[in-house]
Amino acid sequence: MTSLHHGFIWGGATAAYQVEGATTADSKGKTMWDDYLKAQGRFAPDPASDFYHRYPTDIKLAQKYGLNAIRVSIAWTRIFPKGYGEPNQAGVEYYHKLFKECLDHGLTPYVSLHHFDSPKTLFDDGDWLNRKNIDYFVQYAEFCFKEFTEVKNWFTINELISLALSQYIAGNFPPNHHFDVTSAIQAEHNELLAHARVVNLYKSLNLDGRIGLIHVLQPIYPITDSAADKHAAALYDAFINRFLLDGTFLGEYTPETMSLINEILQKNDAHLDIQDGDMDILKEASTQNDYFGMNYYQSAFMQAYDGPSGNQFNGTGEKGTTSFSFHGVGQMVQKPGVPTTDWDWNIYPEGLYDVLKRVAREYPNSHMIMITENGLGLKEQYHGEEIMQDDKRIDFIDQHMAAVLKARAEGVNVQGYFVWSLQDQFSWANGYNKRYGLFYVDFDTQERHVKKSALWFKALADTM
Ligand code: BG6
Repeated sequence: MTSLHHGFIWGGATAAYQVEGATTADSKGKTMWDDYLKAQGRFAPDPASDFYHRYPTDIKLAQKYGLNAIRVSIAWTRIFPKGYGEPNQAGVEYYHKLFKECLDHGLTPYVSLHHFDSPKTLFDDGDWLNRKNIDYFVQYAEFCFKEFTEVKNWFTINELISLALSQYIAGNFPPNHHFDVTSAIQAEHNELLAHARVVNLYKSLNLDGRIGLIHVLQPIYPITDSAADKHAAALYDAFINRFLLDGTFLGEYTPETMSLINEILQKNDAHLDIQDGDMDILKEASTQNDYFGMNYYQSAFMQAYDGPSGNQFNGTGEKGTTSFSFHGVGQMVQKPGVPTTDWDWNIYPEGLYDVLKRVAREYPNSHMIMITENGLGLKEQYHGEEIMQDDKRIDFIDQHMAAVLKARAEGVNVQGYFVWSLQDQFSWANGYNKRYGLFYVDFDTQERHVKKSALWFKALADTM
């Protein structure tokens, strides 16, 4: 397996639904987003970055600016328009062409099977809360493994927690539930099961490649040293990080983790259903992940809180419009001196260092870590510059790379870094004005413009 990769992996990340556009082309089926975004009327998923047609342009840019890898996801509904049934040949061919283009240009494709874009038919039937969804996901994965043999690096699901939290706690992804704690924890468990079943399947097929999953980790720090604040931080950490890390890499939810989770469930009159055999499936998969994709954007600071749950989501980039209080868990607060983005995300590279050390220490079965997303969302506007200035993004990546390199120097096995994102794309709950790309996309003309961060990233990649 070592022959697959010699040096450090430098990549740009994308997700099918955020870049491809072409949401009805070539018999593609609907996702949970199509009707939802239409009804919401804030922005449309078409043409996005028109990657469905313009992938050769973006791949050439990635190669020209020193990248040797790219993260893409397969849209489940291009392969199986309803999530199951007969495969759609046009969708299959599209991904063969895409992977060939990547490989022909020296970019290793790292491919996720699920990046927030559940098929609409399955979403209507309960999405990850319906265990039948897991069976369909396994069938879809098996089809992809056998069909796309040119892909050697797989991820099952992207950010299990973001789905669970955004769908059932924060309510900013469909079906927009607020603090539906039972659904959130059940979705976490069921997504873990889906991941584990796919890993076990992949290993049983003896394929020539690697498989893992992607968690976004958000370290939670107590705002003071008080026992109450420390407990609040531990509770929320268990809910968003620890439960998933335990399930993935230990194949069990440790008694300490479950005691924190049960406290949250009790206080919120919620429950979790673990069925016979579930934990055996997680256990079998827990040692078989070849690598771990870690996304990191921000950390959070918690204080103890016993009032009612409530949250306000900043989906516009108007600073200071976020709030989050979780009954019986804690309340997020600002830490003086920690800068924030326009979307109120704490800029805290120390968190990345801490979480890398934690994963290496507590979860050795993660084997090898790749940062699969990290980046800064900004409002940006092209004014005809030859190179667009985005020094804030460069600072952000620089500080976070320094955290990665420090952890690496101390023995943490990090082998790659994918910047979110390769080119500008739309943000699920923020629309088109939150840009992350190394390359600017004019969403009217679909022209690409180079940002200074692309040049900077190339210079850094050249040194590794
Ligand atoms: C991750 C996702 O949560 O963060 C991406 O994997 C997403 O799909 C990215 O776009 C940035 O989040 P946001 O909300 O700023 O788009």
